[in-house]
Amino acid sequence: MTNFTGVRLRRLRESAPLRRMVQETRLSVSDFVYPMFVTHGRNVRNEIEPMPGIYQLSLDNLMAEVGEVSELGIPAVLLFGIPAKKDARGTEAYEARGIVQEAIRVIKQTVPELMVITDVCLCDYTDHGHCGVIADEKVDNDATLELLAKTAVGHAEAGADMVAPSAMMDGQVAAIRDALDSGGFEQTPIMAYSAKYASAFYGPFRVAAQSAPQFGDRKGYQMDPGSIKQAMREIAQDIDQGADLVMVKPALAFLDVLSAARDAFGHPLAAYNVSGEYAMVKAAAGNEWIDGRRVTTEILTSIKRAGADIIISYHAKEIAGWLASER
Ligand code: PBG
Repeated sequence: MTNFTGVRLRRLRESAPLRRMVQETRLSVSDFVYPMFVTHGRNVRNEIEPMPGIYQLSLDNLMAEVGEVSELGIPAVLLFGIPAKKDARGTEAYEARGIVQEAIRVIKQTVPELMVITDVCLCDYTDHGHCGVIADEKVDNDATLELLAKTAVGHAEAGADMVAPSAMMDGQVAAIRDALDSGGFEQTPIMAYSAKYASAFYGPFRVAAQSAPQFGDRKGYQMDPGSIKQAMREIAQDIDQGADLVMVKPALAFLDVLSAARDAFGHPLAAYNVSGEYAMVKAAAGNEWIDGRRVTTEILTSIKRAGADIIISYHAKEIAGWLASER
């Protein structure tokens, strides 16, 4: 018993009410954004195999689903589209009758108070599956900017409340900001996927969105997982170009990046708890190898503790339900 000062940190852990009072990081339903996949057709509700509980929804089914999301108190959804057909230039991404544009209108008619954020990228819409147009087997950065800007303006025209460029093209935030401003959408905020890594954790998403690259990979534009200083440069650059919110993606294997971004920047910071992170939890919980609810809560808490203000997560609906049941 030498060297023991009598400080007893366990006192703060003795009872549940006291643990609750001194808890430093607490999840709230207001932290969450729920990603959704919209598709053409009627009465479509395809469960995505590696993402149990997540569906490709046609517009008729989308209405009921967004009603539920809003009832749960989740402030926003993030939309991804599965087009009727894909082509080299990702045409449906920026067509007025594109699936995302239609979905925005449906949501704004059904639950106008629900915030609609749209993913702005071409990979869901191109037949080659890359995030931009191809020239000489490479993604042509500057030719892609114009199409991304057109997509973002189209989303805003359809009623989107915020656009989220995810293509990792240099200059995409500036190009979109310019185009929104000239189109009369100077009040539409941009949430930039700033530090987006070339990650194997996107695997299940590519099943959901049918967006796997048909040749090569995304390492020529998405970031290398070994680097963090470049992530800080990406974020700083997006802020300079006018990003209102910035993002780190994926979340769990990049909590250090999130934490460094929190320390370095005052901007609202989002983290994307991506498809592979969700799939791993669901697979293990489905086998009863882990307690799904507790593991999910712990992961989401770690993301917030690391510095995220906003958490984009496929778990949003379940966590909202759990938080409500704890009251
Ligand atoms: C589009 C995009 C992707 C994700 C979000 N936006 C896929 C990718 O870059 O391959 C991944 C989201 C997830 O895995 O949940 N570029």
